[in-house]
Amino acid sequence: MNQKKLEPLPAGLLDRARAARRVLVLTGAGMSAESGVPTFRDESAGLWARYSPEAMATEEGWRADPELVWAWYLWRIGIVNSTSPNAGHEALARWAGLIGGNLALQSLEIVTQNIDDLHERAGSGVLAHLHGRLDRFHCIDCGLPGQPDLSMASSDPTLRVTPSSCESCGGDLRPSIVFFGEPLAEADIDASVAAAQQADLTLVVGTSSIVYPAAALPGVAMRSGSFVAEINPEPTDLDCDLHWCTTAAVGLPQLVDQLART
Ligand code: APR
Repeated sequence: MNQKKLEPLPAGLLDRARAARRVLVLTGAGMSAESGVPTFRDESAGLWARYSPEAMATEEGWRADPELVWAWYLWRIGIVNSTSPNAGHEALARWAGLIGGNLALQSLEIVTQNIDDLHERAGSGVLAHLHGRLDRFHCIDCGLPGQPDLSMASSDPTLRVTPSSCESCGGDLRPSIVFFGEPLAEADIDASVAAAQQADLTLVVGTSSIVYPAAALPGVAMRSGSFVAEINPEPTDLDCDLHWCTTAAVGLPQLVDQLART
């Protein structure tokens, strides 16, 4: 990606953030990019430029070749476990810590499409992991939660590793993430829509905003009166009030540093 020139903090966004009572932050893969976690649709380095989503992110793909797909998720688990939250994750946790201070801030909710736990490891609560979590597992046949052997997590995504088996029915233990074609958890959708309807400032950070229903949330927020600002070094088709050409780990700390001085 040709590195675009990053813009300074827009005054309009700082004013809105100072006055905001209820903030909603919607994050995507770009939020974790500066932690070294690959995004999906970057032309050269994105996961879907190198692997087939049908093969790696559908139940059919898993059942067709569980050893290949399980090894791929073990590789991704290895990446997440070997990295740490970036300055953007830490800035969001700091922002929530300003509740009750000089700002009008009453709540800051994070809804993420990301399956990593970097927001939590930075100290944030997460209202919803819309696409599930890479550190939770369940049986692909009976649905019972389980804890597989992760010792084969490696740096080689082309390995084949036999998935662990469900203690109850012997089915494969798979990551509790939402495969393409699977429904999102109703409770996650309901909580995210409610937060979007109540937010007076919505930040959309690091997502191409093309995967629904997650991509519908900024529109719900905007129609409910929220100011919607996007943080992304690339333009997207998102309908928003303000696009800030910056990255999560550069822009969010700039914003929160100013808010902390209020
Ligand atoms: N800071 C902010 N944004 C960034 C950064 C960064 N450092 N680096 C990249 N981006 C932006 C890219 O410009 C792009 O718009 O993050 C976005 C990442 O888009 P995708 O790779 O499509 O990831 P995402 O939007 O999270 O994908 C949504 O698709 O495959 C599914 O389940 C998967 O949750 C994922 C969903």
